Amino acid sequence: MPTLSLQGRPSFYEDRGEGVPLLLFHGFPFSSQSFWPQLAAPPKGVRLLAPDHRGFGQSAPGPGVSTMEAMAEDGLALLDALGIQSALVGGVSMGGYVAIALTRLDPGRVQGLVLIDTQSTADDEAGRARRETTALDVEKNGVAGLVSGMLPKLMAAGVAPETKARVEKLMLAQSAQAVAAASRGMASRIDGKDILSRFSGPCSIIVGAEDQITPVEKAKLMQSLVGGSTLEVIEGAGHLSNLERPGEFQAIIERFVNLTAGR
Ligand code: MLT
Repeated sequence: MPTLSLQGRPSFYEDRGEGVPLLLFHGFPFSSQSFWPQLAAPPKGVRLLAPDHRGFGQSAPGPGVSTMEAMAEDGLALLDALGIQSALVGGVSMGGYVAIALTRLDPGRVQGLVLIDTQSTADDEAGRARRETTALDVEKNGVAGLVSGMLPKLMAAGVAPETKARVEKLMLAQSAQAVAAASRGMASRIDGKDILSRFSGPCSIIVGAEDQITPVEKAKLMQSLVGGSTLEVIEGAGHLSNLERPGEFQAIIERFVNLTAGR
């Protein structure tokens, strides 16, 4: 299993398929395993690199708050370790916040962006306060309360029960420390509109039609910011479109990769 040392912290990543590197960041509170259909059958023409963020999955925790920038730096260190100068960069939800943060830190390494069920908007004051409440609750009581609160909103009503059960199990497996650190990191993230409006590379924005957490309006806003970006709305999917509609998701990624290859 590929593991990298980041400032002495063991850091796990999946590396599957062959082709254009796609550094794909997972959402909250998950791990790289939330890309299970894509790991089992990577999109054609893609080398899928999916790290476990600090403290999640099999990666060791980092110090203090897990800011989006810190997780983006971990992603850049992974590219360095693999000798990859530039890659397509994307993520689901919190993973999208990390992809935007990475574009802010080092835009020259981003060949294209894939923003999945995410948003560029920062939290408002009430949102930041909710994140702190979540962090304190998780530190005191573990992740079960967060999981039972999030689960009903995560996927579309018609999701397969096996998918829902697997998602729940994956969330319950995450450490309270990592979840609290990432919750505080999301609260402190800055608005990404300036970055997106400066980004001139190819960009695919993907959203489940029934996403309740980062709804289609958030995706449309990002599309209006990135010139030439494409918006793909996946019917019958909620916030985890790559798991709920893996076939459609795969086709979108393959189309995008073909398009970027032709630029
Ligand atoms: C996620 O799916 O990563 C989270 O729902 C993002 C968020 O809470 O803003």
